[in-house]
Amino acid sequence: MKTKKQIPDFLHLGQKLLYWYNINGRDLPFRKTKDPYKIWICEIIFQQTRIEKGMTHYHNFIERFPTVECLYKADVDEVLLYWKGLGYYSRAINLHKTSVIIVEKYKGIFPKNYSEILLLPGIGKYTAAAICSICYGENYPSIDGNFYRVLSRLLGDGFDISNHNSFQYFASLATKLMPIEESGKFNQAMMDLGATVCKVKNPNCKDCPFSNDCIAFLSDKIHSYPVKSKKTKIINEELEYYFIHHGQQLLIEQRDDKGIWKKLFQLPTDLPANFAMEIISSEKINHNLTHRRLSITIHEVQIDSAQTFVEINEWYQSKIISNNEISKYSFPKPLDKYLKTRLLPPKKD
Ligand code: ADE
Repeated sequence: MKTKKQIPDFLHLGQKLLYWYNINGRDLPFRKTKDPYKIWICEIIFQQTRIEKGMTHYHNFIERFPTVECLYKADVDEVLLYWKGLGYYSRAINLHKTSVIIVEKYKGIFPKNYSEILLLPGIGKYTAAAICSICYGENYPSIDGNFYRVLSRLLGDGFDISNHNSFQYFASLATKLMPIEESGKFNQAMMDLGATVCKVKNPNCKDCPFSNDCIAFLSDKIHSYPVKSKKTKIINEELEYYFIHHGQQLLIEQRDDKGIWKKLFQLPTDLPANFAMEIISSEKINHNLTHRRLSITIHEVQIDSAQTFVEINEWYQSKIISNNEISKYSFPKPLDKYLKTRLLPPKKD
């Protein structure tokens, strides 16, 4: 006799998750507000940054830019400075671009409609769904890696997350679980469960509200889900910089708004041939980004004459800054580290 495949009781699973969340959900400062400005900022920060790592940045950001008008009035370079250390700097540039649209087009009032929110720079389906559910109670699931992992394990669902339909597929499953009028809580419960229990490595299955339901756990196949057939492509890239200094000053330049590290400051990337200069040291640094393996060489060039230093600056159209001003600029992480170890006095214990 054939056994019938059990159909999961989706609503019961959704209720179980909310029950768990009400007791075990994380006590996070942005959970005390429904202000779409603050929710937008927190979603942009925490979508790609762990809560522990980004919390100080969140507080500092909200303290300096408490409203969308404050963000709008600020210079983008200052916004980048508040982003220092978080990486993925295009997020900060897009926050500023969106603040301009909200103030100039929407008179400072955050739009309420999902499709309109989705048109704002830097806001994708995940962020639009998080804002609409948390602030306005709309039934949009904020699908991210947590949803893929939790749902595919819970339901033992082998849908390939490299497939271009995976967002739609998991959104439709999530909507079946989502208790009506509790979408904001449901989305945040999925984020918390994914971050604290149903983790990629070492999941705490014994603390999971779904330990009696989870097909992957019950069949001892937790690490077989989610299924992902295509590996992320990693590109090897070589970068070269010149740390050109004279006395207590150095040259820096700003990157454009294309490619990696948009609008961040960096050291010059080549050396003019018509000046007499000597490379006094070269340092190699390896740095990995999500899709790139960078091999960076930084050459140190000391200039003895003030006149030559100024001429090289003109040739580059770079900027002269004092050694103690480096913290006023946002540099890519490996350059920031290099400059700090070179220029700042070691910290006293
Ligand atoms: N990560 C991104 N947004 C979050 C939220 N609202 N709660 C918990 N973790 C998150």
